[in-house]
Amino acid sequence: MVPKILISMGLFNDAIEFARSRAEVDLHTGQDPLPKSALMARLRDKDGLICQITDAIDDEVLGAAPRLRVVANVAVGYNNIDVPAAHRRGIVVTNTPDVLTDTTADFAWALLMATARRVVEADKYVRAGQWHRWEFLRLLGSDVHGKTLGVIGFGRIGRAVARRALGFDMRVLYQDTVRADAPTERELRATFVDMATLLHEADFVTLHSLLTTETRHLIDAAALRAMKKTAYLINAARGPIVDEAALVRALTERWIAGAGLDVFEEEPHVHPGLLGLDNVVLAPHIASASDATRHKMATLAVENCLAVLDGKPPLTPVR
Ligand code: GLV
Repeated sequence: MVPKILISMGLFNDAIEFARSRAEVDLHTGQDPLPKSALMARLRDKDGLICQITDAIDDEVLGAAPRLRVVANVAVGYNNIDVPAAHRRGIVVTNTPDVLTDTTADFAWALLMATARRVVEADKYVRAGQWHRWEFLRLLGSDVHGKTLGVIGFGRIGRAVARRALGFDMRVLYQDTVRADAPTERELRATFVDMATLLHEADFVTLHSLLTTETRHLIDAAALRAMKKTAYLINAARGPIVDEAALVRALTERWIAGAGLDVFEEEPHVHPGLLGLDNVVLAPHIASASDATRHKMATLAVENCLAVLDGKPPLTPVR
């Protein structure tokens, strides 16, 4: 029997056609994510689900899908899925690691450079017609080269961010639950430190952890107060790792110099206190959004889904 797949989001046509070549596809084409009740109704007769980070796949949703064998998330993060509940029900969960590592690291650097060198403020200044003469003291920023980068979460993306720091002659400190092996530390010239040291010494603190109960509000008021007044916070991981209300205070009262944020606590809601600040650069969760990488993510998710439905191991399972 031909398996049935729900694709809960708009994908590239080639990825959809690839899924259609081996399965019957029910495609949700609306701009907004499917409401929970509609998601549950449409999953009732499905064998596979290809979904996005805005779909909350909890135990109740999984319980409404008696035939479901695979949930293929088109993202590397999977905090939108109750993975233990899926595993209890014998459902495979997959994500899209590796293919987005470098693109996401590039974007963390784009945020870092934009905050340090005030690129967005400069753009607004020119467009507003305020540029009347070259001014020696105008829009002074912070150097990046030669500074200290603190990477929290030293997995694939954290390491790719650290690798880019080599070109800027930066000192790299990192913190993770497990220490990297010696060859990796040597190659990236990265030093494992405790959180207090990292927050105290880094000029740029960049977040690359998964969102878990341990990392929720890891960067709270105390952590922000521990950072240098001249330091910047970069978050291209998950919004709830940072206590956004505390960050607004930190930026307003200048406990830190600035922030670059691609992710927020309650997306797409952005804390109103952030919107009026010049010392923060805001992006709508686009770190992996290059055309090539989004194609690779879509294809990998379809491959994962079809592999499981064919009785084969998926390429990138979440364990
Ligand atoms: C995007 O946020 C992802 O997890 O891939």
